[in-house]
Amino acid sequence: MERAIEDGNGLSRRDFVIVATGVAVTCLALPVLQQATAADAAPTGEIDVGPLSNYAHDMISDKFATKEKKATAIMVVRKGDKLYASSGLCTHRGCVMQASGDAINCNCHHSTFNSAGVPQKGPAKLPLVRYAVSLNDDKHVIVDMSKQFMQSDWDKDGASLKVT
Ligand code: FES
Repeated sequence: MERAIEDGNGLSRRDFVIVATGVAVTCLALPVLQQATAADAAPTGEIDVGPLSNYAHDMISDKFATKEKKATAIMVVRKGDKLYASSGLCTHRGCVMQASGDAINCNCHHSTFNSAGVPQKGPAKLPLVRYAVSLNDDKHVIVDMSKQFMQSDWDKDGASLKVT
């Protein structure tokens, strides 16, 4: 019959192995749990960016691109008969950007994007992602950040609204 060997504090070798294994498993699992938590915190909801009538002419609105709500920073762009919502975060290092005339500027390292979201001046190299847009029953523009469109998909249904 096996006997537990106790140390001076009353902890047997078997108890020590069980505790050590538990600590090791917890340490290995913690990064995975932290990633899941971060992913859960990513914006997934819909944002009402106001009535369509607020976007009656060509413009870039940075009203919803604020440092206080960085996770949901978006640019609402009306260009001709299209309205779309681009990310308000620079593709270089994620600073919140500002609209300036027909351009989107990043003050962190001075990248600029055109109204379509294509970089015109670095260091940013990647275009801005767009989010799904739709109209609700009250004719408000709804941006769904859970549905993203890369540049190759900007012509797909949902990537923009046709407006007149
Ligand atoms: S974060 Fe925008 S240029 Fe660097």
